[in-house]
Amino acid sequence: MKAIVCEKIGSVDDLKVGDLPKPSPGEGEVLVQVKAASLNFPDVLMPEGKYQYAGEPPFAPGMEAAGIVAALGEGVSGVSVGDRVAVHPWIGCFAEYVVSPVDWLFPLPDEMDWVTAAAFGLTYGTIRHALVDRGELKAGENLLVLGAAGGTGLAAIEGGKALGARVIAAASTDAKLAACKAKGADVLINYAEGPELRHQVKEATDGKGADVIFDSVGGDFSQQAIRSINWGGRMLVIGFAAGSIPQLPANHILIKQIELVGVAYQGFSRRFPDRCRENMAQNLDWWRQGKLSPHIGQVYDLDHGIDALKAMRDRKAEGKLVIRVSD
Ligand SMILES: NC(=O)c1ccc[n+]([C@@H]2O[C@H](COP(=O)([O-])OP(=O)(O)OC[C@H]3O[C@@H](n4cnc5c(N)ncnc54)[C@H](OP(=O)(O)O)[C@@H]3O)[C@@H](O)[C@H]2O)c1
Repeated sequence: MKAIVCEKIGSVDDLKVGDLPKPSPGEGEVLVQVKAASLNFPDVLMPEGKYQYAGEPPFAPGMEAAGIVAALGEGVSGVSVGDRVAVHPWIGCFAEYVVSPVDWLFPLPDEMDWVTAAAFGLTYGTIRHALVDRGELKAGENLLVLGAAGGTGLAAIEGGKALGARVIAAASTDAKLAACKAKGADVLINYAEGPELRHQVKEATDGKGADVIFDSVGGDFSQQAIRSINWGGRMLVIGFAAGSIPQLPANHILIKQIELVGVAYQGFSRRFPDRCRENMAQNLDWWRQGKLSPHIGQVYDLDHGIDALKAMRDRKAEGKLVIRVSD
């Protein structure tokens, strides 16, 4: 089958479009014919050997996809060949077929198109888990989103608005901030220009600071953001797209009685697949109500899918990038 293939751990530049054996489903697994797959930042990290879960070459990267169930492994019930589903097996989705444990399979509404379906599950699953379960974001609170025009960033804006928060979006270009505004952000901060981020956040919150910070960027931005947090605030540690893991000062945690809160949707999904399914059902309700709608930055075909990975690595992606695998 055709796939984007990582033949050796090295760089996204080493990926090739090639052939891999078509997988077959084992016990508790399903085989899915992939219609579309979306990118998540770890898809860039895995071929570089920088992600906590490593693939063994040769493998196809790709954490999530949408498609049609093509075969069932032993012991699988409640799903049939021909069903429209989304899956997030964490690896293997940039290929014509992927195998997924049935635990991470989600039936799709008939009216959801493949591109939307491919971009939906992991991203909105992460933001609901982050904002609701971990951050306990409340209506009226100030939510600061870093990397706000990225895949998780734009979703966090939508999630924050759906929960009644006031959303402050921080991103590196005015074009990216325009996408944040279109998703409903109340305040826009270009953190590549102008005064330091913490001063801009304080100014936007009458000097109080952000109640919840959604930080998928890390590095210096985290260091600045924690200095802009309100008393009793929650800083959600989502990821380190900037490439460096921040060392955050314990005195700030003490003085403002703040909480540093880890969010690991993959670990949560592995431990609590039922809660993950509830999460998806609630997000689909929000989607039906028009509160969530993935911003698709660009759609690529499989032959050009490596360009999508390069765009994400090079900080050029806006919203979700999707690879259309078959019609
Ligand atoms: N903890 C979890 O459960 C979980 C779940 C999903 C994703 N994540 C993590 O969250 C992070 C973001 O994922 P994503 O899929 O939203 O990625 P994305 O779409 O590429 O967005 C990341 C954003 O980070 C900013 N950024 C700053 N410095 C960057 C750099 N040097 N290279 C690339 N981007 C940079 C960019 O915004 P600006 O240009 O505006 O700064 C970019 O839009 C990743 O670290 C990912 O592993 C964690």
